[in-house]
Parts: sequence; structure tokens; C-alpha cells
Amino acid sequence: MFNAEKFIKETIEALKKEIQGQALIAFSGGVDSTVCAALVNKAVGKNLVAVHVDTGFMRKNESKNVKQMMGKMKLNYKFIDASKDFYNALKGVTDPEKKRKIIGEKFIRVFEKEAEKEKIEYLVQGTIAPDWIESGGELRDTIKSHHNVGGLPKHMKLKLVEPLRDLYKDEVRKVARELKLDVSERQPFPGPGLAVRIIGETSPERVRIIQEACFIVEEEIEKAVQQGLMEMPWQYFAVLLPVKTVGVHGDQRAYGHVIAVRAVESIDAMTCAYSKIPHEVLDHISTRITNTLKDKINRVVYDTTNKPPGTVEWE
Ligand code: XMP
Repeated sequence: MFNAEKFIKETIEALKKEIQGQALIAFSGGVDSTVCAALVNKAVGKNLVAVHVDTGFMRKNESKNVKQMMGKMKLNYKFIDASKDFYNALKGVTDPEKKRKIIGEKFIRVFEKEAEKEKIEYLVQGTIAPDWIESGGELRDTIKSHHNVGGLPKHMKLKLVEPLRDLYKDEVRKVARELKLDVSERQPFPGPGLAVRIIGETSPERVRIIQEACFIVEEEIEKAVQQGLMEMPWQYFAVLLPVKTVGVHGDQRAYGHVIAVRAVESIDAMTCAYSKIPHEVLDHISTRITNTLKDKINRVVYDTTNKPPGTVEWE
């Protein structure tokens, strides 16, 4: 049985020995990086700088909320808007692995630049077990390069510190609860962000569409849970597909893109089952997406694939 209290005590002691100087943490505001930041903060205090990078692929209002959270946790923090840089780097790129690698490398370069300015030697990341297991290596096939693993460039000046490396998501949540962090029950969000929920090429316009669609999926599902219509899924979001289909608005022909809705049940992200969402809720999601994004989206489908054979994210 995983003992969160023991893990916290031992990890703080180990971090005190491991980090001899200034450290920088890649802070996304998700469960993993928040737990990581809280632990390292307890170990080295002001020697930790939390850096949140707005990649332009965050959810609606997310970066603003993360900024507030870093303040609330009394972290020594820095906020960097690198969205233009990320958009430019991904222009014309459609291959999922290439997208992930570019994002991973960009992240590291932003952090390296920051570290150089502040003379920081250590980079703390909230990598957890499924991230490196699925990223492959000598013994395993690469399912997908989790940006915080497979995206790391070979030659990196910073020393990596990954205190959650051996933990699964349910264990990270136990640590978060023990540390009384608000984010303990937050649904996971991939490091490369909405870039892997836009199938094919990304663009600011596509980001705007997927931000709105993800926002609607989250709001409608959370509302349905509050109304007792369903249990909270483990993860729930929208995916923008690059295919166009024919539809009809009033008596006029429409030709727009497709949104896929994904909701899954899982314990550790290694396997998952698709959520059996009530049709009434799917109905609300579909109508609201096609009404809100009228000129762009005229079809909404629901993903009924388990993992395996699918993965949670589509890219
Ligand atoms: P997949 O799509 O591999 O996702 O079945 C399993 C879980 O991991 C999340 N995910 C990521 N998390 N960096 C992360 O920190 C990544 O690059 C990444 N890719 C996927 C995904 O949202 C799901 O919860």
C-alpha cells in the first residue's frame, strides 16, 4: 500500500540533499507539477523558482488561474508568455510525434534561458511513471513521447530532478490530499496542451475553437455531475478533427469541421474505459458546441474507444 505521509517525509529529505543551489520548476498548475512544487518548496524554500509558460495551448482562462494559484501557494514565481514562439515553431507540422518533440524542446529552451539569467542549475519536472513508460526507451516501444520525457533534448545543461518519477496518478492524488492542495481532484491535462487535441496542423484560430469546445465539454459535464445525472469521469475533453463534413443550417448548406468528445474512466492512465455518459448530457454538449461554433463546427461525435486499443489523447 502506498503511504503518502511517508513518501512526503522521505522525498523532502532526499530533495534537500539532491538540490544544492537554485532550482526551477516547470509549473503547469496540474496535479503533478503542483505536488512537485509543494514538495520542493518545503525542501529548498526560496531557492525554487516556479515558471509557468503560456504556450498558447492552454485551456480557456487557464494561465490566468495558474498565476493566481502560484501566488496563493506563496511560490517564488515567474510567468512567461511564449505563445507566439510555440505557434511559429509548429507552423506546418502535422505529425503527432514531431509536434510533441518540438513542444518538449521549446519548453526546455525557455527554461534554459531563464535558468541562465538567474544562474539556476536544476530543472524540476512533475514526470510520473506512465509518462516515461509510454515514452519508450531501450526495452519498450514508444507509444507517444510525453513531452517532459521524449521531448527532452539530448544535450541539456540543466540537471533534472523528478521526485514523482515512480508514482502513478492515483498515488500523486493521495500525496496532494495529504498536502491539502486544492488541485488534488483536478482532471489530468497533457503537457503539450491543446496542441495534441487539434489533430493535424495547429493555428491560433484552431486553438480558439478547441478552447471553446473543451470549455463547453467541461462545463456541461460538471453541471450534469452536480445535478446527479452522472458520476465525474476521470478525464473529459474535446478533440478537433481535420475532416470537413456536409451539414445544414436552416435551409443553407454548411461545410464544417468535426469535434469529437472524449470522456474516460481510469485509475492510472495505463488503461481506460470510455465513460457511459447519458445521452441527455451528450445532447446538451453537441447542441451547445454547434450553436456556439456555428460557422466552424457542424458535427459532434462521441469516442467509444477504450485504452487499449486507443490512448486517452488522440495524438
Ligand atoms: P495517453 O494519451 O497516453 O494519456 O493515453 C495518458 C494520460 O497522460 C496524459 N498525457 C500527458 N501528460 N505529458 C503529460 O504530462 C504528456 O506529454 C502527455 N500526453 C498525454 C493524458 O491526458 C492522459 O491523462
